Amino acid sequence: MNLFDVYNLFDVVPVRAEGCKVWDDKGVEYLDLYGGHAVISVGHSHPAYLRALSEQAAKIGFYSNSVRNPLQEQLARRIGEVSGYEDYSLFLVNSGAEANENALKLASFATGRDRVVAFRKSFHGRTSGAVAATDNPAIVSPFNSHHRISFCELGDAEGVERELSGGDVAAVIVEGIQGCGGINIPSAAFLQALSELCRKHGTVLVLDEVQSGYGRTGRFFAHQWAGIRPGIISMGKGIANGFPCGGILIAPEFQPRKGMLGTTFGGNYLACACALAVLDIIENEGLIANALACGDYLVDGLQKIAGRAVMPDPIRHPSIKQVRGRGLMIGIEFNGPVEDLRRRLLFEDYIFTGVSGKTIIRLLPPLCLSRKDCDRFLSSLDSSLRSE
Ligand SMILES: Cc1ncc(COP(=O)(O)O)c(C=O)c1O
Repeated sequence: MNLFDVYNLFDVVPVRAEGCKVWDDKGVEYLDLYGGHAVISVGHSHPAYLRALSEQAAKIGFYSNSVRNPLQEQLARRIGEVSGYEDYSLFLVNSGAEANENALKLASFATGRDRVVAFRKSFHGRTSGAVAATDNPAIVSPFNSHHRISFCELGDAEGVERELSGGDVAAVIVEGIQGCGGINIPSAAFLQALSELCRKHGTVLVLDEVQSGYGRTGRFFAHQWAGIRPGIISMGKGIANGFPCGGILIAPEFQPRKGMLGTTFGGNYLACACALAVLDIIENEGLIANALACGDYLVDGLQKIAGRAVMPDPIRHPSIKQVRGRGLMIGIEFNGPVEDLRRRLLFEDYIFTGVSGKTIIRLLPPLCLSRKDCDRFLSSLDSSLRSE
């Protein structure tokens, strides 16, 4: 049997990883500025994380959500403390898409409405409602296309108000920072306007923090830079450092009903043990402050590189158009395609980076990145852009 061929693959086979380093099957060491797509929050193979996972696996790995699971209760308490959302409730699932699916479902249950407002360049996952709220028709099948979704421009509060004024919108869903769309940061004023509009029209504000959350931007959630408190916050990726896990934080005004939401695997013992270890490591090692400091350092270095003269060969050496980001969620937009540059970074400098579209290099490294790692990347990028 062959694998169903849905991914563009780099010919690299990682076999071992530690901190911000990955080794392939030939022993080559790579610097990981991609974090397996923002998933590795506290670093690969952190000893405290491995200990928590193996000790839990030796006790009990799985039962079901029909019995009490004190690890879930402990995790809810800890996420509440670390995020400042102690009065919210937690529902655990297995992925970011599932978190958004449940967020939209809960908003619809609570309001009795079925329409959703999402934004241009959004990405919310690949399950039915999440993909329908994603602004990419190429990944929305006819089966997914029956949801009632309207897309507004990010930043267009008046457009959102027009959509909400009919009183039939269950949820507005917005990313803390758009990741796949190219590192687009909604302004604090815009997020505050969304929060106010949702309150006025009885609509639930869903903050998708799957990629931008968990300390990546220098706050626990990116929307906390705007000082708002959404109705539902979705989480995934870094929550368990690679063990499949996702979740939603639900504001106190939502009334649960038995059977309203449910999952087989969500909140299992191993996921909870990993997620608890992640929060401990984030706190003990000051990783949120590190994400902010390293992010500022990288952006500063990138601006200096961007300030240099336009390159002679725009395909091999596209010049930097704009550097955007917060903490360790950074987009470097170029004036031309970055595919070749990204391959050179990987195969000549042994640095993993991410991408958004064709012209944006996306950095989503583990939050334990060091200044030395930043310097290595800046100097590799600089020489790669200068080289013949
Ligand atoms: C903002 C955002 N939401 C949701 C998802 C979907 O998460 P998952 O792939 O875990 O379903 C992603 C994944 O990239 C994401 O970036």
